[in-house]
Amino acid sequence: MKLEGRVRLPGFLLALRFLALVLWSFPGARALDNGLAMTPTMGWLHWERFMCNVDCQEEPDSCISEKLFMQMAELMESDGWKDVGYEYLCIDDCWMAPKRDSEGRLQADPKRFPRGIRHLADYVHSKGLKLGIYADVGNKTCAGFPGSFGHYDIDAKTFADWGVDLLKFDGCYCDSVEHLEKGYKRMSLALNRTGRSIVYSCEWPLYVWPFRKPNYTEIRQYCNHWRNFEDVYDSWQSVKSILAWTSFNQKRIVDVAGPGGWNDPDMLVIGNFGLSWDQQVTQMALWAIMAAPLLMSNDLRHISPQAKALLQDKDVIAINQDPLGKQGYRLRKEDNIEVWERPLSDLAWAVAMVNLQEMGGPRFHTISIASLGQGLACIPDCMITQLLPEKRKLGFYQWTSDLKTKINPTGTVLLRLAAT
Ligand code: GLA
Repeated sequence: MKLEGRVRLPGFLLALRFLALVLWSFPGARALDNGLAMTPTMGWLHWERFMCNVDCQEEPDSCISEKLFMQMAELMESDGWKDVGYEYLCIDDCWMAPKRDSEGRLQADPKRFPRGIRHLADYVHSKGLKLGIYADVGNKTCAGFPGSFGHYDIDAKTFADWGVDLLKFDGCYCDSVEHLEKGYKRMSLALNRTGRSIVYSCEWPLYVWPFRKPNYTEIRQYCNHWRNFEDVYDSWQSVKSILAWTSFNQKRIVDVAGPGGWNDPDMLVIGNFGLSWDQQVTQMALWAIMAAPLLMSNDLRHISPQAKALLQDKDVIAINQDPLGKQGYRLRKEDNIEVWERPLSDLAWAVAMVNLQEMGGPRFHTISIASLGQGLACIPDCMITQLLPEKRKLGFYQWTSDLKTKINPTGTVLLRLAAT
């Protein structure tokens, strides 16, 4: 039921609001103190879309080469990506030459990166963007290129000398969990010692999970974001499994996220081949709710206007980048409909309703406003805007009212509730 007029705030409601303000203002656990990633990192990462394609003869336009990254940099600047916040252009595995140089430094493959990484970094910086690179804590990268084990200091220094701004540090080919954990810490300290601001993107918990429960308080002290779960693929099955893992483990991972350190559910695959429109909406909405790094892996040279508009949706990005920096969580699941919510600054809330029923057509779902935001989202009323699948002002709603929405199969309705 919509509310027509405004209601005056009685004293006890003001007290509740004050309580909410206090509750949501508690800082989270201590973060890596490098001043970076105060909001989730935004950018582009090559892996899901371009993988380890090193055959520039056969596929000159999609092999991992300086040309690919220079083209993406150009588009990130010219096509509005940078303007909405996508800033880090990141290289993943397979950029390296098979051997270190005579001084023990990593080097880029000379055929595919003929002018070296420093040249690429300069070019990326000239576009007002930042450059990310990839290495591995163990003896080899996952694709078999030289690992950083035993070389943490020299590799950190090399990346800093080249002007790199982010390091994705993978965890393949490490002979023990002890070495892995030590290695992640040592690389963090080594990066810090270079004096250059380098975002540190870890996969530490993902590689610890098979052995024991990761210590997230510690991980947060060393990493700016960390992967918890398997690699994302260009499929609904994959996106769905990431959401299921996240909600199943939310008690363990949600509170640890905050400015400076974030859970990383992996890349956005929007704009590729495997997700329907509704599934792309779901990924965008839920990555915003989860305060996830927004690292697209797609081909910016060939992307539909619809996918581009979704990825560049300023209202949804604002939820992802909300300065309060609290990760959202799944509130409930009933009859294959999940309700997720995330507290935002200024006492606002984001609410996402996902229809996981893969049969039939759009389904109606009614939520009671009083059940949202731990009862505090809409006291005594709030202004609700639907952001996805398309933007629509829904108007004022009272605490005691209900809201009826229609959600497509595998789709999501994303709302923003603003305090009045
Ligand atoms: C692992 C990571 C991926 C990607 C590949 C590269 O699987 O989890 O994100 O970096 O390695 O080989």
